[in-house]
Amino acid sequence: MCGIVGILGSKPVATDLVDALRRLEYRGYDSAGVATVENGHLERRRAEGKLRNLETRLLSEPLSGHTGIGHTRWATHGRPTERNAHPHMSAKVSVVHNGIIENFRELKTELTAKGHTFETDTDTEAVVHLVTDEMERGAGPIDAVKAALGKLKGAFALGIIFAGEDDLMIAARQGSPLAIGHGSGEMYLGSDAIALAPFTDAITYLEEGDWAVMRRAGVQVFDRAGQPVTRPLIKSVASSLLVDKGNHRHFMAKEIHEQPDVISHTLSNYLDMANARVNFPDLGIDLTKISRVTISACGTAYYAGLVGKYWIERYARVPVEIDVASEMRYREAPLPADGLAVFVSQSGETADTLATLRYAKANGQRIASIVNVRTSTIARESHAVLPTLAGPEIGVASTKAFTCQLAALACLAIAIGRARGAISQELEQELVTALVEVPRLISTVLRNEEQYIELAHGLSKARDVLYLGRGSSYPLALEGALKLKEISYIHAEGYAAGELKHGPIALIDEAVPVIVVAPEDDLLEKTVSNVQEVAARGGQIILISNANPETIGCALAAHIPTPKAHPLTNPLIYAIPVQLLAYHTAVFMGTDVDQPRNLAKSVTVE
Ligand code: M6R
Repeated sequence: MCGIVGILGSKPVATDLVDALRRLEYRGYDSAGVATVENGHLERRRAEGKLRNLETRLLSEPLSGHTGIGHTRWATHGRPTERNAHPHMSAKVSVVHNGIIENFRELKTELTAKGHTFETDTDTEAVVHLVTDEMERGAGPIDAVKAALGKLKGAFALGIIFAGEDDLMIAARQGSPLAIGHGSGEMYLGSDAIALAPFTDAITYLEEGDWAVMRRAGVQVFDRAGQPVTRPLIKSVASSLLVDKGNHRHFMAKEIHEQPDVISHTLSNYLDMANARVNFPDLGIDLTKISRVTISACGTAYYAGLVGKYWIERYARVPVEIDVASEMRYREAPLPADGLAVFVSQSGETADTLATLRYAKANGQRIASIVNVRTSTIARESHAVLPTLAGPEIGVASTKAFTCQLAALACLAIAIGRARGAISQELEQELVTALVEVPRLISTVLRNEEQYIELAHGLSKARDVLYLGRGSSYPLALEGALKLKEISYIHAEGYAAGELKHGPIALIDEAVPVIVVAPEDDLLEKTVSNVQEVAARGGQIILISNANPETIGCALAAHIPTPKAHPLTNPLIYAIPVQLLAYHTAVFMGTDVDQPRNLAKSVTVE
């Protein structure tokens, strides 16, 4: 988490640093800061809270240096105060950092004993004192950083500038992504290429263990062993133009409404729509011999994976093991020969998902990743990449990335089933035809937004909300609850409808809205029994279903009608009502919808 930028410019850089930080706010927004080399010495401005506070500070106390670094923070060590905001600095060196320095306590003890005074609660400050210490002992900036890097443990991306050095910036990457941008007589550093998009599209990505000495005339990259290495210069397709809200009030609203288009793009990548066939890329593994599919991911991406499990088991008849990445990475789960491991991630940088991928790779699995950012670390470390074509997702609450992940997983399930003979050609055509219908059906759901605004008023008064679903609607219940809690801060839980009577039913009373995700499928009857159990205890039922509400046999607080769809595609369709309910509830409550408290879009720490 945290966003890093750096500019070796030909004019004052503070405004451009803030501009680049704005495109990195998805990585954290607890506090922000910039530091520049001002007539040979280092100066910084920092502010607690959103970037606009830093901008205000810079208006009253401008910086004019042509060399600078900037940071937007998601706090790991130390409260999100100005004192703990980056850049951290001594008289000699200023540092921005993304990641966690795991051995900072040992370093702090060692450096304090040597006379260094720590002013913050952050792990990053250890880097400042480590480099300063080397410099005080006579090392030049480059040797000082090289020596310091050898002593750091953990995951980090660093940007470092020095007093008296107007044409020098050092970057280092271990576990957290970093992109170097090449300009004309200028050089840039960023956590990703989107941050640098208005400045340059010529990008070099640092690899694990790399560090780089940047000057205006160019960059020299070294590997972990200190050997000079050449990293490719690529033309980035990140466009700053893509990152705006259009006519929408929030990025989340825009992204919800983009779903018919982006799902259609994603599907067209995996389907031969004209012939109603899957047209799936070669995963480099014989699909007929796969013994098991292992899926791992975090948050919303995990719920997409959970839907994938239902689909792969039902349609491809292959056993699927799934776990959240933060658990799977430490479980030492035995993984089978001829296993396919699938990792799902919007950002492609989620630390736990990446660590689990590495575990699976080391244990002989064929690795396929479903990612939205094709240049991400997870994509680069996979044997096969299955891109989602959702475009940049800026809202912290994942919406269009989720449904595009579902689209890719549905195609994967059909591809595996078809290859193994579990799906006949007729069934393949039926399933593909159903998928092709999805963008149109979602458009019909999006046309009825008024109803959600009304329902949101009621939901906003609730203290707790329950979501229920069965079969492939169960992950949708989990996703609905996650969406609501992350942007409205209302406590919400998702349950498998059949689990209700094993405990959660004790929570039901007149004040608890129960949102039931219940398409008219072969499980509807069972879900209806659970709905009646809720009704008997006075629960306020909001039914999301294409079924006739009169057939439910009990009073409903509300019915959200959905279009009739194929059982395969219901999770894609039902994602939209749960997103809209959460969105309008949060808007009604006046929360920060796109940047909810305590969260960040890209979770690059464990
Ligand atoms: O970038 P990823 O898809 O790997 O991120 C995983 C989760 O952090 C993410 O889905 C998170 O749960 C979202 N905020 C949910 O809306």
